[in-house]
Amino acid sequence: MSPSAITPETSPEHWIFAKKAAVQNRSHSSSASSVASIRLNDGNSIPQVALGVYKAPNGQETEDAIIAALDAGYRHIDSAARYANEEACGRAIRRWLEKTGARREDVFVCSKLWDTDHGYEATFRALCSSLDRFGLDYLDLYLIHSPAEDEQKRLQSWRALETAQEMGMVKSIGVSNFGAAHIENLLQNATVVPAVNQVEIHPFCQREALVELCNKNGIKIEAYSPLARGHKLEDPTINAIAEKYGKTPAQILLNWNASRGNVVLPKSLNASRIQSNLESFNFQLSAEDIRTINALGSENYVTGSMHKSDD
Ligand code: A2P
Repeated sequence: MSPSAITPETSPEHWIFAKKAAVQNRSHSSSASSVASIRLNDGNSIPQVALGVYKAPNGQETEDAIIAALDAGYRHIDSAARYANEEACGRAIRRWLEKTGARREDVFVCSKLWDTDHGYEATFRALCSSLDRFGLDYLDLYLIHSPAEDEQKRLQSWRALETAQEMGMVKSIGVSNFGAAHIENLLQNATVVPAVNQVEIHPFCQREALVELCNKNGIKIEAYSPLARGHKLEDPTINAIAEKYGKTPAQILLNWNASRGNVVLPKSLNASRIQSNLESFNFQLSAEDIRTINALGSENYVTGSMHKSDD
């Protein structure tokens, strides 16, 4: 190479820097595992914290947020066909893998079957479309977004998920917004027990009976809207506890959820909140403070009635 061919991109220093960054980012993937992983009932592991991207636009803002999250140490992105941002998620994940030299299996990707796509064949079509939009050849987790009223359709969708798992299109399969009756019905009819049930859970909406049923059957709870959509950050009990630990109210809400063994899916598009949400797990709430938070519990849904299900 002639000296004139050495540009900032091709100089040895640049090469060494790029290699170092790749190695650091690789080790990031294990230090990111400072985000604990949880074993699912199918033997696969799931990072306990995900970046939720509900209502995130299908564009640059979401891509930047996902890259900020992956840089910060998140290794789990929770999207859905309904969120209409799978393309942005896929672009961000692929860009980050390329930038860091990390492997596809270093990032856990979840999407969900929307309500209009229930049924055996429709489920396959929807899953293929999701994979196309992500630009990925498999998902780590695919969920039924909410239970179809029609039991037969619901079970056909589940059968399609079981087949998709056998075919390797998805590693793990689960459900979302299933109430106790839906879970019991599925357990009576399914070959594969769902790996997760993703439902609204936070101190103000604890859904104890449903959680107990899922725990008893090895179905991991994934808590969506663990920050109660930001509506409870002024709560005096949460604030008093936050002050005591030198943490933010958001960190207390996330820590409480994770301390129950739940996967937590805080949504944010803001880089500093993405970072601070990830720093919610390096302390332990005392048993007394957990009891105080537990006592806040009621069925106070903040996400509207669409996904309410009778327990
Ligand atoms: P933003 O994207 O501007 O950060 P949930 O995960 O319970 O659905 O809550 C998501 C909402 O909470 C979003 O409006 C998000 O806004 C906001 N949010 C996320 N993290 C925090 C935080 N650490 N402090 C305050 N608000 C937050």
